[in-house]
Formats: sequence, C-alpha cells, structure tokens
Amino acid sequence: MLKGKNAIITGARGGIGRATITCFARNGANIWACARREDLVFIKDMEKLGEKYGVEIWPLFFDVTDYSQLRRAVSQIMRQRISVDVLINVAGIIGDSTSFHMTSIDKMKKVMETNFFSATVMNQYVSHLMVKNNHGSIVNVASIAGLDGEPAQYEYVASKAALIGATRHLARELAPWQIRVNAVAPGMIETTMGGKIDKSLREHMLSKMIIKRLGTADEVANVIAFLASDLSSYMTGQVIRVDGGI
Ligand SMILES: NC(=O)c1ccc[n+]([C@@H]2O[C@H](COP(=O)([O-])OP(=O)(O)OC[C@H]3O[C@@H](n4cnc5c(N)ncnc54)[C@H](OP(=O)(O)O)[C@@H]3O)[C@@H](O)[C@H]2O)c1
Repeated sequence: MLKGKNAIITGARGGIGRATITCFARNGANIWACARREDLVFIKDMEKLGEKYGVEIWPLFFDVTDYSQLRRAVSQIMRQRISVDVLINVAGIIGDSTSFHMTSIDKMKKVMETNFFSATVMNQYVSHLMVKNNHGSIVNVASIAGLDGEPAQYEYVASKAALIGATRHLARELAPWQIRVNAVAPGMIETTMGGKIDKSLREHMLSKMIIKRLGTADEVANVIAFLASDLSSYMTGQVIRVDGGI
C-alpha cells in the first residue's frame, strides 16, 4: 500500500506512533521515526523492524516543542535528498487535571504547544518540501475529543479541535500542490495515554460505544496508512473517526 513512499512519523515511541511505524514498514514505506529522547534500545528496535520488512528506518530525536531542534531534524532530512511523501503528526500529550477552573494557563499552554503548535510547525516545514515535489499526504492525529468535547479536559479538547480546523484549512491551502491533508480522530485506545483516562469516564465512554471495547493502536495505524496512501487519493480535509462507533 505504501511501497516506495518516504514518511516522517512523530511520537514514534508511543502506542499509536510505534504501531504506525510497524504498519508503514509492513506496507513498504521508508520511515523517519521521530522520538523525543535518543536511546539505543529504540535504535536497535528500528533497525530490526527495517530489516524484517526490507525498508529503511532512520531514527531522529527531537522534542517537537523545541523548534530549533525540530528545524535541525527537518534540515537533516533535507540533506538526505530523498523526497518526503508523507507526514504523520502523532506526538501528543494529555493534561493531568480534570477541572477547567483548577487548571493554570501555563498547563493549558503546554498541551496546546505540544498538540497543536508543534504539529503546525511540522506541517509548515514539511509541506514546504512537499510543495517543491508537487505531491504529499499529511495525516494529523486528532481525537474525538476535538469533535465531541469529551473525553479529557478543556485544553486537550481545544488543542485537538484546533488541529481539526487546521487540517480542514490546510487541505484547501495545499491542494494546488497535490498535497492532501486529513486527520484521524481516535476514540479510546489502549496505550499509555488511554490508560490515563479515569475509570468513571472510561465506563461512560464504553457505554456509548457500539463496539464494546477499547480500540488498539494497530486499528488506528491501519486508518492512518490508508489516508497516507494513494488508496485515498480523492480524500482531503476529512476527519475520520476510529472510535468503535460512538
Ligand atoms: N490513546 C488514546 O486513547 C488516544 C485517543 C485519541 C487521540 N490520541 C492521540 O494519539 C496520539 C498518540 O497517542 P498515544 O495514545 O500513542 O499516546 P502515548 O503512547 O503516550 O504516545 C505519545 C507520544 O508522543 C510523544 N511526545 C509527547 N510530547 C512530545 C514532545 N514534546 N516531543 C516529542 N515527542 C513527544 C511521546 O514521547 P515520549 O515517549 O518521549 O514521552 C510519545 O511517544 C496523541 O496525539 C494523542 O493525543 C490518543
């Protein structure tokens, strides 16, 4: 499905990011696997995965909220002189409080910074490369929270709603260069982040699901791969829910 495509994927060490890397490698893509902290275990893991599927995986390490690190990473990609076909913005955080009144503006800014502004800067830099190639596919990992107002807190909901609006806008702005921009909106997925949702909210969400279980990271990765691939060539500006039918 992705044979010969070169894809940048952030949040590479997390649940959905790691699953997306495996899915992309299995489907023939070469990958820049972007994680926050450099470590040997991750490098070895990526090496093994690349060998298993016969693709190149280049680990890159930067904090997405540190724009000088981010710029250096994109410059490193540019220096490889390989066309960048796909960008998947996965990196994200959830806040630690439950009440809007009790959350400081600094905590809210941190969530906005990670979930919205860093994806915006990635989209700016990488779409610039895609414009030169006159093609590309960007997938932003949003959340049903950005559509429905739940689960999770005010700042998380706002950050994902902003990312969804940005996706719809960018689809129009980048269309003249054959760059498609879509988003996935996962529901409750079994990852480290999914585990942070409190028990009562989890039960409330489960009661609303048609498929009565949490989703897996692989199930989200499959939809990301479809949106990144040419199988979705007539889709742009879309937000696809992967939520068990909430
Ligand atoms: N799980 C769910 O139920 C769910 C539902 C809807 C949407 N999502 C979205 O899906 C995406 C992936 O989440 P997940 O469930 O896979 O959670 P996860 O396992 O916690 O992964 C999140 C990843 O983002 C990375 N990250 C966070 N801040 C970063 C920063 N400043 N710089 C670089 N990397 C950073 C983390 O890096 P470290 O490993 O270094 O911490 C981690 O690898 C997020 O955008 C999340 O909002 C998740």
